[in-house]
Amino acid sequence: MGANTLTVTDNRTGKTIEIPIENDTFDPMPVRQMKVNADDFGMMSYDPSYRNTASCKSKITFIDGDKGILLYRGYPIEQLAEKSTYLEVAYLLLFGELPNKKQLDDWVFQITHHRMIHETIRGFIDGFHHDAHPMGMLISSLAAMSTFYPEAKQIHDPEVRKMQIYRLIAKIPTLAAFSYRHSFGLPYSYPDDELSYAGNFLNMLFKMNELKYKVNPVLEKAMDVLFILHADHEQNCSSTTMRTVGSAHADPYSSMAAAAAALYGPLHGGANEEVLRMLRQIGSKDKIPEYIKRVKAGEVLLMGFGHRVYKNYDPRAKIIKNIAEQVFEVTGKNPLLEMAIELERIALQDDYFVKRKLYPNVDFYSGIIYEAMKFPAEIFTVLFAIGRTSGWLAQWQELLTDPEQKISRPRQVYLGPSTRDFVPMDKRK
Ligand code: CMC
Repeated sequence: MGANTLTVTDNRTGKTIEIPIENDTFDPMPVRQMKVNADDFGMMSYDPSYRNTASCKSKITFIDGDKGILLYRGYPIEQLAEKSTYLEVAYLLLFGELPNKKQLDDWVFQITHHRMIHETIRGFIDGFHHDAHPMGMLISSLAAMSTFYPEAKQIHDPEVRKMQIYRLIAKIPTLAAFSYRHSFGLPYSYPDDELSYAGNFLNMLFKMNELKYKVNPVLEKAMDVLFILHADHEQNCSSTTMRTVGSAHADPYSSMAAAAAALYGPLHGGANEEVLRMLRQIGSKDKIPEYIKRVKAGEVLLMGFGHRVYKNYDPRAKIIKNIAEQVFEVTGKNPLLEMAIELERIALQDDYFVKRKLYPNVDFYSGIIYEAMKFPAEIFTVLFAIGRTSGWLAQWQELLTDPEQKISRPRQVYLGPSTRDFVPMDKRK
């Protein structure tokens, strides 16, 4: 018997097979041979919501959920947040290595010069009702962009792919900012090529009548770090969506619209918006124990807590908590921070959360900073989407260049009725 194998015995039949182990995983295809009768379909693995199934081999992001470690291409998130910029990190995620000076200059030039969106896309945004949710506008305008760049369908051409990567990373802040301005009935503020990625985004959101918008360097840095922290998180729900839609060879705009739709869900990127709602609903520190009781009774979730992978403090939440101090020196303290800290303190001492290893995740503190920076809650998930764009595209590109990948198509366990004859209307119950 080989050492690097898994031996599986079907106790119904006594049949034993040996399956090779590679990277601590096994291919479930051989268990198809396990049959009781010759005409059986054979066995499959059953893993709803992929709790213990790897769907790809990846070299992009590593998470050790028990130790609270997050690495992009091997670099600790703490070092990247402190020493790098979002665009440099985006390059790292997409191309595997930190760029040298020339590569970075070229990359920043490309992203900076693709920031404008076609005026007709602006027209789409104009068409939304003033209180349309910014994520709805973002998802729709991303999908609409696929109609402007039909060549994007040539997904196997590396040069075509690169161009769509430039466009998507460059234009998503513009789409987001235009949706925001539309919500407030404000005229659009066009990209300013002299500003950094984060600085330009703040300019497109907040510029009023002044000739030149002055970006506060602390807020600009905070925004950039928040983009870095959200840039990738391996096979999360939206990245898996990006890969799934991409596996059907859809163009990247359509795939990204689908990924953004997944992100919109309150169990995923929509949680940051829900955290603020929850804190407001609790109202004051003395009401926290009562809310915790409701969480433990299964009536509500503690939003911003828990994670499929982290069974320890989310390292991103730690970094965000630290940036909050710097941001509040500029903006003044957000009173919700004290409530959040108290909520965290109480939860982390409670057996319910300790036993289940539920810790604050990235969304627990991010909304509090965003709010202090004057972002309305509805746009929080859009901010997440801007950062995650580089990760989605890196995952998409890795999928397309992986010869082991095919169209995504899970199996099911069918438990419905077997074949039966059609019942005419007058015979139905
Ligand atoms: N509040 C209360 N109980 C919770 C929570 C929570 N936030 N999260 C998990 N639990 C309980 C859950 O009820 C279950 O208890 P039991 O074993 O008694 O049934 C146990 O903890 C395990 O949870 P699970 O639902 O099996 O965990 P999951 O891996 O399927 O779900 C999650 C992960 C993030 C969807 C979930 O923790 C959750 O809903 N959290 C709140 C929403 C949130 O903050 N989402 C943002 C995630 S981080 C950003 C991102 O990547 O999108």
